[in-house]
Amino acid sequence: MVVPNLKEAMKRSKENGKVQTIHYVLEEELKGIAKGKRYFIKTYGCQMNEHDSENIKALLEELGFSQIDCMEEADLILLNTCAIRENAHNKVFGFLGRIKNIKEKRPHVIAGISGCMAQEEVVVNEILKKYNYIDLVFGTHNIHRLPQLLSAVLSKKESQIEVFSKEGDILENMPFKRDSKYKAWVNIMYGCDKFCTYCIVPYTRGRQRSRKKEDILEEVNSLKKQGYKEVTLLGQNVNAYGKDLEEKYRMEDLLLDVSKTGIERIRFVTSHPWDFTDKMIEVISTCENIMPYIHLPLQSGSNTILKLMGRRYTKEEYLTLFHKLKEKIPNVSITTDIIVGFPNETEEDFLETLQVVEECKYDSAFTFIFSPRVGTPAAKMEDTISKEVKEERLQRLNERINYYSKCANESYKGKIVKVLIEGVSEKDEDKVMGYTETMKLVNVKADKATIGNIIDVKITDVKTWSMDGEAV
Ligand code: SAH
Ligand code: SF4
Ligand code: F3S
Repeated sequence: MVVPNLKEAMKRSKENGKVQTIHYVLEEELKGIAKGKRYFIKTYGCQMNEHDSENIKALLEELGFSQIDCMEEADLILLNTCAIRENAHNKVFGFLGRIKNIKEKRPHVIAGISGCMAQEEVVVNEILKKYNYIDLVFGTHNIHRLPQLLSAVLSKKESQIEVFSKEGDILENMPFKRDSKYKAWVNIMYGCDKFCTYCIVPYTRGRQRSRKKEDILEEVNSLKKQGYKEVTLLGQNVNAYGKDLEEKYRMEDLLLDVSKTGIERIRFVTSHPWDFTDKMIEVISTCENIMPYIHLPLQSGSNTILKLMGRRYTKEEYLTLFHKLKEKIPNVSITTDIIVGFPNETEEDFLETLQVVEECKYDSAFTFIFSPRVGTPAAKMEDTISKEVKEERLQRLNERINYYSKCANESYKGKIVKVLIEGVSEKDEDKVMGYTETMKLVNVKADKATIGNIIDVKITDVKTWSMDGEAV
């Protein structure tokens, strides 16, 4: 049993050593050990976790498992968890009750937990104390160990808990069972060294490690050959890509090289305002296949709160960058993340956030109430704001965010835009759906044969969260 340790996870020192690249190979004798068995997986959290689940699914299928959507019939139930806010935790702990019921009826079922919650010392301690029917716990740093861990659970019939607190090497040659045939996630870096005071990610994902450019470009080229139309380069702050590499090769260089592969659409998330260089802006504005869409988290519009959050920029610096992006990148759409109710946030601080929203008129935003996370500095700050005030601020903020989302969508009415058609619309079976270059969801009247293609669509109607259109 290897359990997580918060102190270890906080460390950032040279003694962590150089990051090595390891090529993953599945031992021959493990192939097919779970033949005939079925797995159910539920994923919480961000794109990185979604992509990790694509990895986990492929590993399970190499062992012989096949995927099913009905949890009650599965032989393995796995929750790939997120730790970012308290409600993410509560959802998982709530779900464990259902798993317990299933295990009472079908004791052979293996119950597993992976992802960011598995990296938390407090969570694993609670699992050991109160949820002893969990058979498998592994973290974000040892997904590649899943075959060995499952093999041990299956043969020894005893639970396996293995969570490394220190990030390990970068694994290449990992298999992925991708959710889409047209758009793909591509990791370009792991971890985060920013340590914003409210955020748990640096503890659950470890130190920042950039993948080698050769490996990234090879993956993009291979995806292109397989017919993929779009890649999204993934990292917690992708603008810092390369800062930990010996070679002087940064995000702007990578974007340019990925653009040269000729893949039709390139996106990247998430951009931290701190590392956004002029060179990057130039590359984005000049390369046609880099999409004019930027997620630029603001978090707060008050300099006092930004400082307490450890965000390393002021409201003025953020706004300067924002306007530069709008000016230099034609037709760019910018979205953001905002937290309300951070400790010590006054009504004046909150009004400053609203002022930034009025100025930036974001295309859309994710908004959150501050949630204290064990081990982070902000969790030790005195929580000065009542629940009612936090909820009221969130509501006022959302009202403005939704207003500007609708306004942004209004400006598309009657226009012809390019949409990558991904599948059948969830709203209307007779329609297809996809996203514009600027990341707007469009439900389109078009033949199903357009699925997998980028087509011209005329926007006929707009709502707050989506638009309607027809193929032209
Ligand atoms: N790496 C990204 C953010 C990843 S987390 C970045 O730096 O922009 C996604 C969002 O969750 C954050 O932008 C923040 O708005 C929100 N978030 C993170 N920790 C939070 C917390 N403790 N409480 C509330 N929201 C939080
Ligand atoms: Fe969290 Fe800040 Fe890192 Fe984003 S940049 S993952 S908010 S610590
Ligand atoms: Fe959640 Fe971990 Fe992503 S905490 S937001 S799944 S990096």
